[in-house]
Amino acid sequence: MQFKRSDFPQGFLFGAATAAYQIEGHKFGGAGSTHWDTFAATPGNVVRAEDGALACDHYHRYEADLDLLKDAGMDAYRFSTSWARVMPDGKTVNPEGLDFYDRLTDAILERGLKPFQTLYHWELPSALADQGGWMNRDTVLRFGDYVDVITDKIGSRMASIATINEPWCVSFLSHFLGHHAPGLRDIRATARAMHHINLAHGEAMTRLRAKGMKNCGIVLNFEATQPADDSASSAKAADLQDAINNRWFIEGIAKGTYPQVVIDGFGQHMPAGWQDDMAQIGQPIDFLGVNYYTRGKVAHDADAPWPHTKSVTGTLDKTQMGWEIYPDGLHTTLTRMAKDYVGDLPIFVTENGMAWDDHIENGAVYDPERINFASDHILATKRAIADGANVQGFFYWSLLDNYEWAFGYEKRFGMIHVDFDTLQRTPKASYHALKSAIVRA
Ligand code: FCB
Repeated sequence: MQFKRSDFPQGFLFGAATAAYQIEGHKFGGAGSTHWDTFAATPGNVVRAEDGALACDHYHRYEADLDLLKDAGMDAYRFSTSWARVMPDGKTVNPEGLDFYDRLTDAILERGLKPFQTLYHWELPSALADQGGWMNRDTVLRFGDYVDVITDKIGSRMASIATINEPWCVSFLSHFLGHHAPGLRDIRATARAMHHINLAHGEAMTRLRAKGMKNCGIVLNFEATQPADDSASSAKAADLQDAINNRWFIEGIAKGTYPQVVIDGFGQHMPAGWQDDMAQIGQPIDFLGVNYYTRGKVAHDADAPWPHTKSVTGTLDKTQMGWEIYPDGLHTTLTRMAKDYVGDLPIFVTENGMAWDDHIENGAVYDPERINFASDHILATKRAIADGANVQGFFYWSLLDNYEWAFGYEKRFGMIHVDFDTLQRTPKASYHALKSAIVRA
């Protein structure tokens, strides 16, 4: 790695991130079915129709996994608590689920790691999906009830609580592009989900504040959106995509408004009276989590329906996902967030990482591509701090190879290799490189 811990301000946190459904093994401990279980069981949605039933079996191996995190010299662990584990049918409490998160919290703290909780990383109980999931406003209140229950159990021990992971994926990717559960391609469903997921964030903030929780915020995903060429039509297409992907959520939260270009597109499909919710959505947060992976090049497509855009493949080196490697975009995103939206509010890079077709050879995984990727993005973060963004931590995605949603177990993002037959963990060269850069003497 081309950086050292001492290049960063005192107190800057290094960590790794995971999510419940992707690692735990959802068949254990009385967890309920989620919309990902049924999405995966539907032919054609997920590579090899794989699901998170076993995943990395973190449910039974969490102590050893946390030891690996600790041994890497990390300061913090970002994880999610599964709504469907805590409330299998979306409303009845599963004591076994609460006990698991209680033990996990203790195990994180015993190792001197700071727990960064995410309340919703897409673990929607199927019983609530049956009632329309995020299209249904009532899901927002059900989510608030779950926030109360899990917060009563572990909230006071958390260093940080994020309400929602990547609302764009929860709503646009899942209800308009159809790539994630529930796999819809419907503009009315999208408009509703785009608003209700923001409202769920606001509702969670209200519940957390009522319980005196501090360090509460949200995790948003950003891409570095750019026009594919110099034409005016591409500039307009890029602006619209930027509004949908990058501005809708942060503008709602930081300013209490939505970008007019998006309202122009699907405003008639928004739930009645949405304007009255903006104050709750726009209440103060304590930090912003930024997930960043790649850039997106966009052109106008006159033949396509709204938003009349198409993605154009760029020329930069790509990861196993086919995503261009563009560290400058992380710098641009962080400085833009500080300048245009959150000012001095603490920002954390809550996810950044890359998938690669890693293999074990002679008992080791050699992944120089990932070492360069992480190093370049951590250096981009350092430049953003120098340019005024109050970035206080960086979490690599992910600690372990895991269930990469529609890509099943095929795409490996981990700094630790997982053999999905034996479940054996093997730290990759990138793990050792990060450790050398951040471990305290
Ligand atoms: C993000 C998700 C995370 C993982 C990474 C690669 O969109 O938050 O769960 O899938 O992408």
